[in-house]
Amino acid sequence: MTHQADRFSLAGRTTLIIGGSGGLGRAIALGYAGAGARVLVAGRDQSKLDRISRELGAEGAKPPVAYAADVRAPSAIADLAAQVEADHAPVDVLVNCQGTTIIKPAIEVTEAEYDLILDTNLKSVYFACTEFGRRMCERRAGVIINISSLAARSGWAKAAPYCATKWAVTGLTETFAAEWGAFGVRVNAIAPGFFLTDLNRDRMSEDRKAEARRRNAMQRMGEPQELIGAAIYLASPAAQFVSGATLRVDGGYLASGI
Ligand SMILES: NC(=O)c1ccc[n+]([C@@H]2O[C@H](COP(=O)([O-])OP(=O)(O)OC[C@H]3O[C@@H](n4cnc5c(N)ncnc54)[C@H](OP(=O)(O)O)[C@@H]3O)[C@@H](O)[C@H]2O)c1
Repeated sequence: MTHQADRFSLAGRTTLIIGGSGGLGRAIALGYAGAGARVLVAGRDQSKLDRISRELGAEGAKPPVAYAADVRAPSAIADLAAQVEADHAPVDVLVNCQGTTIIKPAIEVTEAEYDLILDTNLKSVYFACTEFGRRMCERRAGVIINISSLAARSGWAKAAPYCATKWAVTGLTETFAAEWGAFGVRVNAIAPGFFLTDLNRDRMSEDRKAEARRRNAMQRMGEPQELIGAAIYLASPAAQFVSGATLRVDGGYLASGI
């Protein structure tokens, strides 16, 4: 029988973290490297991509491990998939960790702001799942992990478009799991609680931050590295019968809802 610890290894797996240059994606990328995976990341800002390349010990590497792509365009996702496969190997594990938000009352949200959030948080997830999912189905193996949110479980004042995208990501996660299970492809989500990153550090007021800590069962926000265990687990053989699930990593935030 395989030693149980081996079942959490990602040795030999090629992983791609879209948004792997950001706060949570970076932690997952470094965690996957520690679990033995080949780690590739994608984002837009070259300076952030250079930083994660450095941290992965692959600065200036040929082929690169960090790819510039604006994944709001399905054509950019198709190009990314073809490029990483040509440079490295087919992607075994895809993590959709891209995202953005704007905090303001729903009535004040402009069409351009709505489109930005929907395209970044939902359209990109849809087409990344289908582009990489198609390739995984052909190979009869693969794992996709979508980064969802607490906002996929209830309403969230001043974050209407963001909230709508995260509910939708749950629907996509479960639907793709249903369609692709027979092809050996698992699709799951992680719903993080509050973690201070570029996404929210300057967007949340000090009062809102204090409230987020107070309402959490553990009375604090999470640290990005506290997502690594869940991300490794869902990607690994230890989760081989887990699909369509959302794993909350929120310090008991939703559990203490009333
Ligand atoms: N932080 C939290 O408390 C929290 C809680 C729940 C869920 N989440 C979710 O976790 C995910 C990561 O968030 P984070 O906190 O790590 O935010 P972050 O630090 O702002 O990182 C966002 C990442 O997404 C990338 N990205 C954004 N738009 C992109 C685009 N059009 N094309 C390609 N890449 C793009 C960014 O790279 P570039 O800027 O270079 O494009 C960056 O790497 C998001 O889906 C977010 O909704 C976060």
